[in-house]
Amino acid sequence: MQHEDSTELLMPDATGIQRAAALLRDGELVAFPTETVYGLGADATSADATAAVFEVKGRPRQNPLIVHVSGWADAAAFVEPNPLAELLAGRWWPGPLTVVVRCREGSALATNVTGGQGTVAMRAPEHSVARELLEQFGGPLVGPSANLSGHVSATTAAHVMADLQGRIAAVIDGGPCPLGIESTIVDCTTGRPIVLRQGMVGLADLTAESGVEFELSRVDTERSPGSFPSHYAPRAAMRLNADAPRAGEGWLGFGADTGAAAAAVALSLSADGDLQEAAHNLYSCLRQLDERLGGQGTIAVSPIPETGVGLTINDRLRRAAAPREP
Ligand code: TXA
Ligand code: MG
Repeated sequence: MQHEDSTELLMPDATGIQRAAALLRDGELVAFPTETVYGLGADATSADATAAVFEVKGRPRQNPLIVHVSGWADAAAFVEPNPLAELLAGRWWPGPLTVVVRCREGSALATNVTGGQGTVAMRAPEHSVARELLEQFGGPLVGPSANLSGHVSATTAAHVMADLQGRIAAVIDGGPCPLGIESTIVDCTTGRPIVLRQGMVGLADLTAESGVEFELSRVDTERSPGSFPSHYAPRAAMRLNADAPRAGEGWLGFGADTGAAAAAVALSLSADGDLQEAAHNLYSCLRQLDERLGGQGTIAVSPIPETGVGLTINDRLRRAAAPREP
């Protein structure tokens, strides 16, 4: 799919959303805002549209696609009954939680979606634009993060354009994503549920609300390639838990910040040391620093507390800093 600089920027109003739904029905790809990050929407029942998603993102074929629905009743048409997933959806949907469940035999989902694993990752987003789009479209939409594979996720329409302009039909501009980090993914197909990807819903919350013990996955590249060691990465190198920037380094601060003055370029995740605000700003700051450093050099990052949302921020920072594939 070639759109040569013709990617439409749509308003998040009724006209824009109707246009987006019409493009999706034609098998085109349209990026849309969610409360976590922007998703790359395509008809989840179309072999061609879902194949185009892999092509446009440069995504490895074996990495399955997440599916967005309005709620559990819609998900139930495509998946086998799963009491735990239903309980979690009852508590967190619509919201930043994705459940992995078994596909129903002969479900209408495209084979590309499941990557041949017989399971599917489902999420009902809370963002009003995403909800309206799902309603207008009237079916399930795949929605991997709307960035080039391995790159930092997009939290504004401008980020989507920077990665995908000319490759997709349209982006709905809903402004910055409120949360800024991807959903928590829980695999509900195993005896003891496994958190495949940390996110805005914490492990402690999951256990407290459901009364079930959850396990944090070891890196499992077969089942959830979003957990590849190197992911969410800027072009610049990353140096974590830094006390101060070294000569020429970019600086990403947190809280009372002593490094900024000495850095070549400096941004703060949250001057107040607020972890929610830091999550909201993380990807945007990484993209901005990367750009200002010309995609070279190093971004040094202040220590982030290993509590609450800080656990997820540190998870993403470690993946951004991990050794890159050649
Ligand atoms: O917050 C989010 O989840 C965002 C927004 C747009 O909804 N989406 C997102 O999609 O982060 P993506 O594709 O970048 O990450 C989804 C992850 C991938 O790492 C993929 O490997 C994993 O979900 N996944 C998808 N289907 C799976 C399955 N059947 N079993 C295990 N993991 C799966
Ligand atoms: Mg992604």
